[in-house]
Amino acid sequence: MSDIVPAPPAVVCNQAQAIQELFRSNVVPTYSRFEVVLKRGEGSYVWDVNGKRYLDLGGGIAVCVLGHANAEITQALVEQSRQLGHVSNLYYHEAQGRLAQALARLIGPGKIFFCNSGAEANEGLFKLARRFGHEEGRFEVLTAQNSFHGRTLAGIAATGQAKVKKGFGPMVPGFRQIPFNDLAAARAALSPATAAILVEGVQGEIGVVPAEAEYLLGLRRLCDEKKLLLLMDGVQCGHFRTGRFQSFQRILEEKSGEEAAGFLPDGISMAKSLGGGFPMGAFWVREPYADLLDAGSHGTTYGGSPLACAVALKILEVIARDHLAEHARKTGGWCKGELLRMAAKYPAVIQQVRGLGLMMGIELAARTPAFAASEKSPVVQFINRLHAAGALAVPSGTHVVRILPALNLRREEAAEGTGIIESVVAKISP
Ligand SMILES: Cc1ncc(COP(=O)(O)O)c(C=O)c1O
Repeated sequence: MSDIVPAPPAVVCNQAQAIQELFRSNVVPTYSRFEVVLKRGEGSYVWDVNGKRYLDLGGGIAVCVLGHANAEITQALVEQSRQLGHVSNLYYHEAQGRLAQALARLIGPGKIFFCNSGAEANEGLFKLARRFGHEEGRFEVLTAQNSFHGRTLAGIAATGQAKVKKGFGPMVPGFRQIPFNDLAAARAALSPATAAILVEGVQGEIGVVPAEAEYLLGLRRLCDEKKLLLLMDGVQCGHFRTGRFQSFQRILEEKSGEEAAGFLPDGISMAKSLGGGFPMGAFWVREPYADLLDAGSHGTTYGGSPLACAVALKILEVIARDHLAEHARKTGGWCKGELLRMAAKYPAVIQQVRGLGLMMGIELAARTPAFAASEKSPVVQFINRLHAAGALAVPSGTHVVRILPALNLRREEAAEGTGIIESVVAKISP
């Protein structure tokens, strides 16, 4: 048929507007979206419906670890879906067992629970903390100010940002926030009900702020002394983004000695890059606590499905084969050097550059004149200009541009990215 009946012409009449209209009429408006309507991707590039190409420095917010439309991920998905796509967790299957083993080997002695998202992984850690403290009547989890742990009810109670809680009270009880990187404040905040402390290795949502090595070591000591679980949220900063599997491993490299070398939290949540775009999450729990959540105490229909695990295993294989952890460390280091050079050259635009590996934040100066005329936050205005110049990045708070590209971002693509950023910075520099 296709030989004799030509394909209908593509809809050319302002496709972008038509798609945006579909959203306005049909999609719950929880997101303020940029005016970009994407159609396809390849590697570190995406194209919008008008054919404009963007270098993706946001990676779907730290998800697209091997870039877009990765052929090996596609092949893993196709092969697995031909064999066994989904089975319930009433049964065993090889991929889940192998993936759990691979993840535990990257962290330390312990076990893995599989789920579907970062918020759900954190929910599992909260339940672990409650189980752990239950017999002594302890249930409270201390989290950090400016942290982010997801949008479920417990997730927003745990998150240290007022804006995610607004209008959703009363909050789930049992969460309190403490200043980040402040050990004395953590000690002072403990109550008889405290069961755990949860922190990110690098805070992602408000500004890309790494934990200090001394802080992590001090939290470990404090948790040991007071019989608390030390939990870490590795949803955004994990999966080799910083140059090591978990960001705490990278942060603690600067410390010598047994304490740093032997450091382990008691639980770690993961998601995002774990599935590279296939929605999945997981948490690791350290050996002495690995059986606390016993049969019937926790579950989720899709967690650790054959499809999800086949993809995650393939991602781990490619990262190891192509030395992408080292690549992320080197390419990220090079980018950071470029951004620091820009910050020195344009201090009226860039106030600070932070981050580790391919997780970077560019903090914009508080009062850049070019941003004064609009109501939109400086970071949104900056990113709109990046879009016009051909790159995507992610806002973090009101003033920080987040760079979270694929770990296989090529060096020349990194150079293209920093070049685009500099062209925008130079234009708005007073
Ligand atoms: C540190 C951190 N924790 C948890 C989450 C929630 O993950 P998800 O959106 O997959 O539920 C996010 C998402 O951005 C995150 O950055």
